[in-house]
Amino acid sequence: MAAGPPCKDVEQVVTPWEVSAPGEGGTIDYDKLMDRFGCNRLDAALVDRIARLTSRPPHRFLRRGIFFAHRRILDLYEAGEKFYLYTGRGPSSEALHLGHLIPFVFTKYLQDAFKVPLVIQLTDDEKILWKNLTIAECKRLAHENAKDIMACGFDIERTFIITDFSYLKGIFGISPEDQIGKVSFPPVQAAPSFLSSFPHLFPDNDQLPCLIPCAIDQDPYFRMTRDVAPKLGFQKPSLIESRFFPALQGESTKMSASDPNSAIYVTDNSKQIKAKVNKYAFSGGQDTVELHRELGANLDEYKAGRMLTGEVKQRLIEVLSELVARHQRARAQATEEMVDAFMAIRPLPNMFG
Ligand code: TYM
Ligand code: TRP
Repeated sequence: MAAGPPCKDVEQVVTPWEVSAPGEGGTIDYDKLMDRFGCNRLDAALVDRIARLTSRPPHRFLRRGIFFAHRRILDLYEAGEKFYLYTGRGPSSEALHLGHLIPFVFTKYLQDAFKVPLVIQLTDDEKILWKNLTIAECKRLAHENAKDIMACGFDIERTFIITDFSYLKGIFGISPEDQIGKVSFPPVQAAPSFLSSFPHLFPDNDQLPCLIPCAIDQDPYFRMTRDVAPKLGFQKPSLIESRFFPALQGESTKMSASDPNSAIYVTDNSKQIKAKVNKYAFSGGQDTVELHRELGANLDEYKAGRMLTGEVKQRLIEVLSELVARHQRARAQATEEMVDAFMAIRPLPNMFG
C-alpha cells in the first residue's frame, strides 16, 4: 500500500495499538505526527467555517484544539453534498474510559449540528485477535459498550450500531472459524467507510461521502482506506481527528484500557476517582516534600501558579465525579431492548431531518 510508514521511530510510537512518547517524561509531538501521517491542521479558519455552516458555536473540543487534524472535510458539504458519519469502538473492556468518550461526545455534537445519519462499528472480532478474548466474551462486551455509547445521547432515528460478527461478517459470509489472522482485520474496519455496506440505509445513493471522527491513533486504518477507495470505485472517506486524553501519569502516553491505573472508567465511583487522582495523577508537584522544596513544581503543567497541586486535584476530582455520575445516570436507562433497537437492520426515518 502506498500509505506512509507507521509512525514508529526512536522518538515516538503512535499506532492503533500503542502510543508512547520519547524518553522519560516526553510528550507526544502532534505536529510531527500530522506531518508524518500526512493529515492537515484543523485551524481557526476551518473552525469558523464549521460554526458558520452549522449556525451554532463550535464545540469546545474544536475551540480548544482537542480535534486538531483532518483529511478533507467541508469542501463537499459546502458544494451541497450531504454525508454520513462513521465511528467505532473495539470492545476490549467492560467499561469505556474517559478517553473513549472524546470521539463519541464529539460525534454526538456533529450528528446534531449537521443532522446526518451515523453508523457505529463495534469491532468484536478485533479483540479476539489482539486481546485473546473468547468470541462469547467479545460479543458480551460489545453489548455492554453499546450501552455506554448510547448514554452519550445518540438519536435512534439517525443511528445504526453494528457489530462485526453479526452484521459485517454475516453480510460477507465470513464466520469466526475463518479468522486468518490480524492481516484480515483492517479491511473490516474500512468497510463501513463505503456506503455500499449499508444497502438498507442508502438504497438510491452511490455517492454519499463519509466523515469519520476518531482519535489520531486510528489514522493508519483510514490512510489505507483512502488509498484503496478509488481502486475499488468508491469515494475516499474524510476524517476529523483528536489528540489523546492523556494517561493519569502524564502526556507521554494515552489513557488506555489495558492499564487500569492510567484510566478513569465511566464505571468508577467518586471514591475511586478521588483515590486514583490523588495517587496517580501527574500534577507537576515533585514526589516528596523535600524534592518539591528543592526543585519546585513542574510549572509547564499549571503555569499561572495560583493553584496548589492539592487544589488542582480537588477541582479535577469534582469535575470528573460529576461527569461520570451524569454518564452513569444515562447508562442506567440503556436496556438490552434498546441495544437491539439500535442494532436492528432497518431504514432510518428522517436521516437528514
Ligand atoms: P478503541 O476502542 O481503542 O477506541 C475507541 C475510540 O476512542 C479513541 N480513543 C481515545 N481518544 C482520546 N483519548 C484516548 N486516550 C483514547 N483512547 C481511545 C479511539 O481513537 C477511537 O476513536 N479499532 C477501533 C474501533 C473502530 C473505530 C472505527 C474507531 C472501528 N471502526 C472507526 C474510530 C473510527 C478501536 O479499537 O478503538
Ligand atoms: N448527555 C451527556 C451530555 O449532553 C452526554 C454524555 C454522556 C457525556 N456521557 C458523558 C458527556 C460523559 C460527558 C461525559 O453532556
